[in-house]
Amino acid sequence: MAVPCIRLALLLCLMIPAATVASPRSLRKSPANASRPTAFFEVDRPLRRSSGRCSTLLLSASFGSTFDKPPATAAYSPPRCLVKAGGRASDISLAVLEWRAACRGAQLGRIFGVWLGGAELLRGSTAAPPPNGVVWSVSKDVTKYASLLAAAGKPTFAVYLGNLVNATLTGVYHANVTLHLYLRHTPPTKPPPATAPADLIVPVSRALPLDGGLWFPIQSAAGVASKSVALPSNAYRAVLELYVSFHQDDELWYKNQPGYQNGPFREVTARVDGVLAGSVCPFPVIYPGGIYPLLWRPIAPIGSFNLPTYDIELTPFLGNLLDGKAHELAFAVTNAVDVWYVGANLHLWLDPGGTATTAGLVSYVAPPANTTSSKSADPVDTHYHATANRLVSATGWVKSSYGNITTNATRTFALDYLLTFETLDLTIVADTGVVATDGAGGGVLYSAQTHGNFPLGWVYQQNSLTVTHGLEETTVAAGRWSSAPPYRSLRTTQSSLVEDEEGGGKSWGVRQTYRYNATDGCYFRNVTSSNYSVVSDHSNELCMKGAASAGVGAVTAALPAVNLP
Ligand SMILES: *[C@@H]1O[C@H](CO)[C@@H](O)[C@H](O)[C@H]1NC(C)=O
Ligand SMILES: *[C@@H]1O[C@H](CO)[C@@H](O)[C@H](O)[C@H]1NC(C)=O
Ligand SMILES: *[C@@H]1O[C@H](CO)[C@@H](O)[C@H](O)[C@H]1NC(C)=O
Ligand SMILES: *[C@@H]1O[C@H](CO)[C@@H](O)[C@H](O)[C@H]1NC(C)=O
Ligand SMILES: *[C@@H]1O[C@H](CO)[C@@H](O)[C@H](O)[C@H]1NC(C)=O
Ligand SMILES: *[C@@H]1O[C@H](CO)[C@@H](O)[C@H](O)[C@H]1NC(C)=O
Ligand SMILES: *[C@@H]1O[C@H](CO)[C@@H](O)[C@H](O)[C@H]1NC(C)=O
Ligand SMILES: *[C@@H]1O[C@H](CO)[C@@H](O)[C@H](O)[C@H]1NC(C)=O
Ligand SMILES: *[C@@H]1O[C@H](CO)[C@@H](O)[C@H](O)[C@H]1NC(C)=O
Repeated sequence: MAVPCIRLALLLCLMIPAATVASPRSLRKSPANASRPTAFFEVDRPLRRSSGRCSTLLLSASFGSTFDKPPATAAYSPPRCLVKAGGRASDISLAVLEWRAACRGAQLGRIFGVWLGGAELLRGSTAAPPPNGVVWSVSKDVTKYASLLAAAGKPTFAVYLGNLVNATLTGVYHANVTLHLYLRHTPPTKPPPATAPADLIVPVSRALPLDGGLWFPIQSAAGVASKSVALPSNAYRAVLELYVSFHQDDELWYKNQPGYQNGPFREVTARVDGVLAGSVCPFPVIYPGGIYPLLWRPIAPIGSFNLPTYDIELTPFLGNLLDGKAHELAFAVTNAVDVWYVGANLHLWLDPGGTATTAGLVSYVAPPANTTSSKSADPVDTHYHATANRLVSATGWVKSSYGNITTNATRTFALDYLLTFETLDLTIVADTGVVATDGAGGGVLYSAQTHGNFPLGWVYQQNSLTVTHGLEETTVAAGRWSSAPPYRSLRTTQSSLVEDEEGGGKSWGVRQTYRYNATDGCYFRNVTSSNYSVVSDHSNELCMKGAASAGVGAVTAALPAVNLP
């Protein structure tokens, strides 16, 4: 069944390639200085500590004709300030990886990845430049990779950004990657077990040297990527961190009506020796050139400059993995269409008091995903409805010098999709829970329950398109071993609008609110842009009581009129 004809025309007329959208005349009218590049940005909270930081440039590179070429690389050594402070991973209080990039000339948005010793540290999308050029930067908390950052042995630092330069696409991306470290004045004498950064990170990626990124390409629903890994025999906790991104024919998978390009349901599955250990329905990241490129200038879509990652608790499955032999970790994408890039890092916590742990699986539930789809009979305005939901849950014990600990890990998600001629309404609700209890009656050692809600909607009207995109994620943590803030909540919503002007021009605007509220601090930002200019921007770090009721819906109601003063 093909896409309805008028609808396709509507989509196509709005999908002007990124590089041709802004005419020089419209730029001269806007307040931006045409000889200076525009700064694009993704709204995020600042990452810092009060103590001084030390900064190290890890790599400076240009990406011209780099498609399917080897990544840019540099040998990594732990920064001198860390070595001077003792060189231990536990000396790191906060590690921030900063990507700063610029591009001038016509170019499309591209995907890039950053790896250290084969472990992925950052994946992001580039910003396609307007004619006067673009600069942007992204800072990511990489403290969880402390064991890698402190490792000697000169691991290779690698950046792959596949770009294509020719007579029409002339933009070369220039990027600097810097590591900022904040060190502890007094390292913890005994770091909390299991919830401090992992002792060892095993990359589950393609090995250098190679052409292209270290991620595994998955090109169809039948595609499987796998790698054999051997675990140390004294692991007592294991978490698989997934990096995923979707491109080309599956870049906008979340908008597919049932029956078109495998419909709107995707899940990334991870198997251990053939057993389904986790399933993730990803946050529907819109890339900065996605749906309609002007919608995301200069405020980039949520998660696009710093893609979200997904943690799958593998501790209940350790029973079969502690024999020192190689075991297969495999990834697939349900309903995939060409192409997904999937990679992972296996975070392992090792028993300091023993050379071998023992483990066993107690119970396991993973019924098949439940999917439905339907289509209303109305031939004029057909409604397409689809749902999908999934549960994967496992409980297992691990006996180490910390005792006999039982871990229950549960992941669920539910997707709900409704497409009409003029609207899309998609919601993904994802819940994850991990509870580790001490068998000797010591109660809960650590637990974390995360509730995520990812709404995405659009409305086409005669001369305008409005897209509303949100991310809400709340984590409640507890337990004697827990080092995470007991309460952490992020709610951010973006409303973007593009309108046809009389005479053929386009006007556009974005409003984003961002509320982070945690036991260890808060951050609020409310920013509005009109065309390429930021017209209002308020932020504070105050923790306010009682504002919790303003959810995504309430924020959406405050959509800006495009022609703001
Ligand atoms: C535009 O930027 C250039 C270079 O920074 C500067 O020399 C010029 O004065 C700026 N023009 C305006 C109108 O701000
Ligand atoms: C990268 O660093 C070099 C040297 O400091 C600087 O000249 C260049 O402008 C930087 N590039 C970006 C994109 O920040
Ligand atoms: C440059 O590459 C793009 C993308 O492959 C292609 O559409 C375009 O025709 C190419 N331009 C020239 C002049 O080869
Ligand atoms: C499958 O999902 C549909 C829609 O959410 C629901 O009505 C139905 O009960 C589910 N079936 C099973 C077996 O869970
Ligand atoms: C994990 O805990 C949840 C909540 O108590 C429970 O519903 C589920 O059955 C447990 N999973 C397994 C595999 O035992
Ligand atoms: C650990 O506890 C589980 C259940 O609580 C039990 O089945 C298992 O035998 C225990 N393991 C050891 C080595 O004692
Ligand atoms: C935005 O740019 C368009 C031209 O593309 C122009 O017609 C419109 O007036 C601009 N809007 C504002 C608020 O500057
Ligand atoms: C965000 O800022 C706009 C413009 O200043 C204002 O109208 C709106 O009420 C603000 N929203 C919130 C949630 O503070
Ligand atoms: C922030 O979190 C605290 C709990 O730590 C809660 O009491 C408060 O209502 C929350 N405030 C907002 C604005 O969400």
